[in-house]
Amino acid sequence: MLGRCSLLAGGLRGDCIGAERFEIGALKRYAIRFSHRCFLIYPTRIFEDSECPIRVFRRINTRIYFMLKNRSILVTGGTGSFGKCFVRTVLEKWAPSRLVVYSRDELKQYEMGLEFPTAQYPCLRYFIGDVRDEARLKRAMEGVDIVIHAAALKQVPAAEYNPFECIKTNVLGAQNVIEAAMANQVQQVVALSTDKAAAPINLYGATKLCSDKLFVAANNYKGHRDVKFSVVRYGNVMGSRGSVIPFFLDRAKTGVLPITDERMTRFNITLQEGVDLVLYALEHMWGGEIFVPKIPSYRVTDVADAIAPGSRREIVGIRPGEKLHEEMITETDGLNTIEFNRHFVIQPAMPLWDADKYCEAFNGRRCQYGFKYSSGNNSEWLSVEQIRQLIQGHVDSSFQI
Ligand SMILES: NC(=O)c1ccc[n+]([C@@H]2O[C@H](COP(=O)([O-])OP(=O)(O)OC[C@H]3O[C@@H](n4cnc5c(N)ncnc54)[C@H](OP(=O)(O)O)[C@@H]3O)[C@@H](O)[C@H]2O)c1
Repeated sequence: MLGRCSLLAGGLRGDCIGAERFEIGALKRYAIRFSHRCFLIYPTRIFEDSECPIRVFRRINTRIYFMLKNRSILVTGGTGSFGKCFVRTVLEKWAPSRLVVYSRDELKQYEMGLEFPTAQYPCLRYFIGDVRDEARLKRAMEGVDIVIHAAALKQVPAAEYNPFECIKTNVLGAQNVIEAAMANQVQQVVALSTDKAAAPINLYGATKLCSDKLFVAANNYKGHRDVKFSVVRYGNVMGSRGSVIPFFLDRAKTGVLPITDERMTRFNITLQEGVDLVLYALEHMWGGEIFVPKIPSYRVTDVADAIAPGSRREIVGIRPGEKLHEEMITETDGLNTIEFNRHFVIQPAMPLWDADKYCEAFNGRRCQYGFKYSSGNNSEWLSVEQIRQLIQGHVDSSFQI
């Protein structure tokens, strides 16, 4: 805490309700919060929230800082790829009072506990639990302010083979998260979705579409409760388990790369970008939005060129449940979509939703008639060289050609 004399030396007066030290990247800074105003202390002077020279960067950081500070957060699927990156980001940059990891497998939690020990991070709690178990979720969400719902079964072939298992986790589990949040005065819930939920052709995508619909609709029947539900939808996470890049990295050793179809394209997002979008959603959500980031696409043949330029290509044909191009916003959803500089928002079909006010609040514009957002019609593409750099930065630091 800063001393009273520091506050007075800065010329600030009023009812100070918080003065804390926090970090923006490598910089250590102090922030002081008065009733409704926030000040950031730089070595040479003190800036108010609205006048900082690096306004956007700083505003986002201090806002999220105060948004998560002393709040209790629960992440379902907290031991997964997204969950771990989310936990690391929150622990490194912000100071929640409690951060609960909720998942089934004790080994994953044990291993995560070695990486993030509770002795070093006393706010961390590891809860064994299944999202299919509503009673356990209700217990885990006691006193929780913010829920991030990342738990899912997400392997397309496994979902096709075990359909009701996927429905139980992804659909019934989603409804349980909603019920538990409503039973516990949770204020914000952000659920993760996938591009496969847009015009789904496989069961995994269909269950995630059901989940999206459940979270959006929850805003309609929440009654007097002060809770908002929103969804974040994005595409292939670079290097995630079972995705094309680790697969090609492994197969490159054989000198032959199987290509499903030379026309195939995919979106690309890094884990950190996914986490940042969730934090952005937490900061800006009204409840009912599906947030979709603007991210680049790649051609699968460019990934092959980036990883093993001299290898032989074997065309194996598109597999059941796969699309040539992934979609994040269908043409029909496009009718109801607002564009911002770095993302889109598919608006909810809610009677009280005011699209004009939303556009005005965040400086957005409605998408034109016929708009759709597919990895095949994207305006931003990764080159072979960019794919290589991203692999080095996010998948395998020892990777080189
Ligand atoms: N990876 C991608 O490319 C991608 C792209 C778009 C969207 N998404 C979405 O992002 C979210 C997170 O994905 P991810 O890549 O982090 O997945 P992941 O690495 O497979 O992690 C899944 C997490 O969910 C937990 N889990 C699974 N079933 C559960 C259940 N019934 N109850 C409680 N926890 C359960 C798993 O732990 P236990 O097994 O120990 O329970 C694990 O912690 C998912 O909703 C996914 O649909 C992922």
